[in-house]
Amino acid sequence: LFSRVEQAPPDAILGLTEQFKADTNPRKVNLGVGVYQDATGKLPLLRCVAAAEQRLAATPTAKGYLAIDGIPTYGREVKELVFGADSPLLEQGRVVTAQALGGTGALKLGADLMRQVTPDATVLISTPSWENHLALFTRAGFTVEKYRYYDAARKGVDVDGMIEDLRAAAPGTIVVLHACCHNPTGYDLAPADWQRVIDAVVEGGLTAFLDMAYQGFSQGIEEDGAVVRAFAERVPSFLVSTSFSKSFSLYGERVGALSVVCSDAAEAARVLSQLKIVIRTNYSNPPTHGAALVETVLEDPELRAQWVAELGEMRDRIKAMRTKLVDGLAAAGVEGMGYITDQVGMFSFSGLTKEQMQRLRAEYAVYGTDTGRICVAALNDDNVAYVSESIAAVLQG
Ligand code: LMR
Repeated sequence: LFSRVEQAPPDAILGLTEQFKADTNPRKVNLGVGVYQDATGKLPLLRCVAAAEQRLAATPTAKGYLAIDGIPTYGREVKELVFGADSPLLEQGRVVTAQALGGTGALKLGADLMRQVTPDATVLISTPSWENHLALFTRAGFTVEKYRYYDAARKGVDVDGMIEDLRAAAPGTIVVLHACCHNPTGYDLAPADWQRVIDAVVEGGLTAFLDMAYQGFSQGIEEDGAVVRAFAERVPSFLVSTSFSKSFSLYGERVGALSVVCSDAAEAARVLSQLKIVIRTNYSNPPTHGAALVETVLEDPELRAQWVAELGEMRDRIKAMRTKLVDGLAAAGVEGMGYITDQVGMFSFSGLTKEQMQRLRAEYAVYGTDTGRICVAALNDDNVAYVSESIAAVLQG
């Protein structure tokens, strides 16, 4: 039966973690996957999450099925975080939010839903984009094409190229946009550029699908959510996938959500009914624990304030490591990589070639993706000099 099944290549990102674990070099550094590590190189358990864990453990409950679309209070909190508590959309009942298995799960729910709604639509993703966007939307049955995004020469976004490509897209095309902390480049659009994107979406009848896996890692929760609110003001219907993997350091709990903005409450009710079928036929209903933790934190003013502060600490530490990396590279004789401090979020698009990234891995046990992406959030004072020297050695030889 399976004799003709071909060996698939390892995953471009998670496959690196497998390779990293097997590496015996004591100096190894994993800058492959987008996972934040603290100043001591450990995956943090946020203090607000630890407190929420204690509260939940103090009152253990039986483990029944959740509703197909998840914990209602969690859904409300997600809506308020993403759209703003005072958003007229929420008051009008126009937003459907379903708990999802992390950001990836939310994207897949959205993809499956859209495959029912507009089966012939093409999906457009940025060049480059998160590796899994192409795979996920292709597996969901869509033809996936690309719009221009990264300007390698100018180290920034090719806004004119992007707008030109969006303007050329057929009505109904689904455009996947990174709401903040573009993965992998770390370059985001300025607010005025977002308005040009929104013009293209509205005038071209495109379907925007905002992927927001890093809310809070650029400027802050409110600031990073501004893009969603800009869409909400002008675009009648769009989708948003969100994740708490990074912002709550809850990677393994798979906590995220898909929100679908509809034209009115009646339409929202119909969309929810279809979304429930998507969920029910995939995994029936979501798991409890991660969402209960997030709900507990967001519902309690003290824990919530602590979370905002802890997220700020993560954001500030990443920024400090960007500067240390640029300084370390300069100390190792590599000038001209100051653009690393212009980038935002967890990643830096280093500009290194595939061959250089592979040498970095093979010769120095420093793991980044083949595309040149490195996770700055995994740097610390103990490894930044070694990483800088390794990059310098690869660039110089
Ligand atoms: C990443 O881009 O490294 C993260 O989003 C983790 C993942 O699932 O790929």
